[in-house]
Amino acid sequence: MINLPVKTWHLGDPHQSLVLASFDNRLPEAVYWGPALPTGESHKTLSAASLMDVTGGMVDENAAISLCPEASQTFPGQTGLTVRSRDGNPLAPAFRYESEAASEHGLTLVFADKALDLTLVLDLTLTPETSLLKLQTRLESADIVQVDWLAAPVLPVPAHTGEMIEFSGRWCAEFLTRRLPFAPGARLRDNRSGRTDHAHFPGLIVCTPGTSNTQGEAFAFHYGWSGGHRMVAEELADGRRQVQFGHAGGSQAAGRHFVTAPLYATYSAGGFNGAAIRFQRHVRDAIVQDMRTPRPVHYNCWEAVYFDHKLDELKAIATHAAGLGAERFVLDDGWFGLRDDDTSSLGDWIIDGRKYPDGLTPLIDHVKALGLEFGLWFEPEMINEDSNLYRAHPDWVLGPSDQTRGRQQLVLDMAREDVRTHLHDQIAAILRDNDIGYIKWDHNRVLPLVDAAQTEGVYQLIDRLRADFPQVEIESCASGGGRIDFGILERTQRVWLSDSNDALERQRIQHDAALFLPAAVTGSHVGPRRCHTSGRTLDIRIRAWTAAQRHMGFEMDPSELTEEETDVLREVTSWWKSNRDWMMRADILRLDSSDPAVIAEQQLAENGDRFAVFAALIRASDQILPHPVRLTGLDPASLYKVSLANRDQAPRLSRGSPFLKTEDLEVSGQYLMSHGLTLPWRFPDTIWVLEGQRL
Ligand code: DGJ
Repeated sequence: MINLPVKTWHLGDPHQSLVLASFDNRLPEAVYWGPALPTGESHKTLSAASLMDVTGGMVDENAAISLCPEASQTFPGQTGLTVRSRDGNPLAPAFRYESEAASEHGLTLVFADKALDLTLVLDLTLTPETSLLKLQTRLESADIVQVDWLAAPVLPVPAHTGEMIEFSGRWCAEFLTRRLPFAPGARLRDNRSGRTDHAHFPGLIVCTPGTSNTQGEAFAFHYGWSGGHRMVAEELADGRRQVQFGHAGGSQAAGRHFVTAPLYATYSAGGFNGAAIRFQRHVRDAIVQDMRTPRPVHYNCWEAVYFDHKLDELKAIATHAAGLGAERFVLDDGWFGLRDDDTSSLGDWIIDGRKYPDGLTPLIDHVKALGLEFGLWFEPEMINEDSNLYRAHPDWVLGPSDQTRGRQQLVLDMAREDVRTHLHDQIAAILRDNDIGYIKWDHNRVLPLVDAAQTEGVYQLIDRLRADFPQVEIESCASGGGRIDFGILERTQRVWLSDSNDALERQRIQHDAALFLPAAVTGSHVGPRRCHTSGRTLDIRIRAWTAAQRHMGFEMDPSELTEEETDVLREVTSWWKSNRDWMMRADILRLDSSDPAVIAEQQLAENGDRFAVFAALIRASDQILPHPVRLTGLDPASLYKVSLANRDQAPRLSRGSPFLKTEDLEVSGQYLMSHGLTLPWRFPDTIWVLEGQRL
């Protein structure tokens, strides 16, 4: 065998192996990433086996797709680092091995360019419980340098994958997925919005053309950062492929220390679900801190009253909501300053004495007497020109004064300590003087510029408030799902997935968000009968069951509910409460529906003994007979008892006798996964809910 000076490292578990090799003390490269390798496999041999040929029309050596591909190696694609000296000259470091340290589940590898006095530190861990790689790059410089681009550790993806799924979206349509072929050149996303944003969820799934929810290979990535990211998915001219993630280009000021956010990555041999459940579990068990259980049923008053707060009306709403089963009441926008619409008062976090002459206490006391927790809305990073804060501190605004406004508001410069201290003190005073267990933390516009210091400032403010008020949970909202990522989830306990309470739209958004998010953190509310953002009128059943698939809540004016709607909502809420203990810890498995009009998912309990299936018909099917719904993740040899939880909802046009319409079924996991469940015919915009139990 060729005798190469090579160092190797291995991160592995029963699901995946990542083998790194450093040739000649250069930066390490992933010479293998895929299914778990057998013990005893020689990593040195694998390293040698990974060497590729050289032929005509090429330079004489293949530059590695190292964890930070280097310009100094004549790398034929996007490099992992673009750095300039203090006076603007491009630097092309050639890093060499310095040292390493092993932790329980990971490695820290240190490489240096002595001539340039630059050090590159690669922090790599594989969390055993969730099989998720967490990868982070640090750059230390003796001199001040300008970093235009620093990628988190770069991984290659194999040539046979061929496709990628990336995420776009908009207000009320978050987590849109798009499946694209890999093609020569780079697919570049550089999110300039300064926040995670509806249009740029920082995720990517590389897969084979045949990969589905339940089978095939997937290499999945998420960049845990709330300040805008850059992604590069590149097919080099020579055919190799690499994936890079980092902060949005040029968003870091000149300095001596730079660090990327963590890049989370995993290999799945079990389709998209294989990766999704690792992200879901990791968010729930390793990222989110201090999540209170059981998850309380929410009531949020935004779509009931908007800015028109009247104490008596809010008390009546709270009483009504409690009767439906709510356990947490969230007072939304409109309680502070002189905020009668969205043109004023952001920045003045003082209770509006016109609306609340005796403060919030009378409302809070009423809510608490009903047995509910009280939550309050803030949008701390924002300021209106019509506010006392702006009149006192016009210089606290981020960006130029002639910038375009967003929802008539400007953004505070969160990198300033005086701004953070002021916000901390105002919010802390409200939390101290009132019995508040929950904050809905909103963020309703893109930033005027991209600046990592803004995001770091927000993180600092939240961290300080969390340290002072550890019992207060926080929800991350940004006009719906504009700030959802693992960075914000390290400091919050719930996300407001979308401002669309339209159950059909929500079905799609929830389904795609489940590629990364567990039910326990994903807020989902039963909105008004006629949806305020889509104008669509939907039956209470689909609205209630859709919310019951995630962390459930209500958001309509409850006085609009008919007696029948009230009964249905109460019933579904009580179903949710009696199932939440296992469902909020279940894996959400997306089912491969052969009928594109059906969005179906299966929530499988941690021990695999029970499941719930939700199969929503979001438009009329092309064919008249319902396709059987095939399940997944069950033990083929076990028997399961399956019942149709809402069989009373079969319409009169369902004239036949499918078994589940009247009786429970006892069948094997094999049957459920191979043939699937034959369901009664139903109207569009309806949902079947099935419950299963291993016998
Ligand atoms: C946008 C949020 O997404 C809504 O739920 C609501 O809180 C409004 N902002 C309030 O202004």
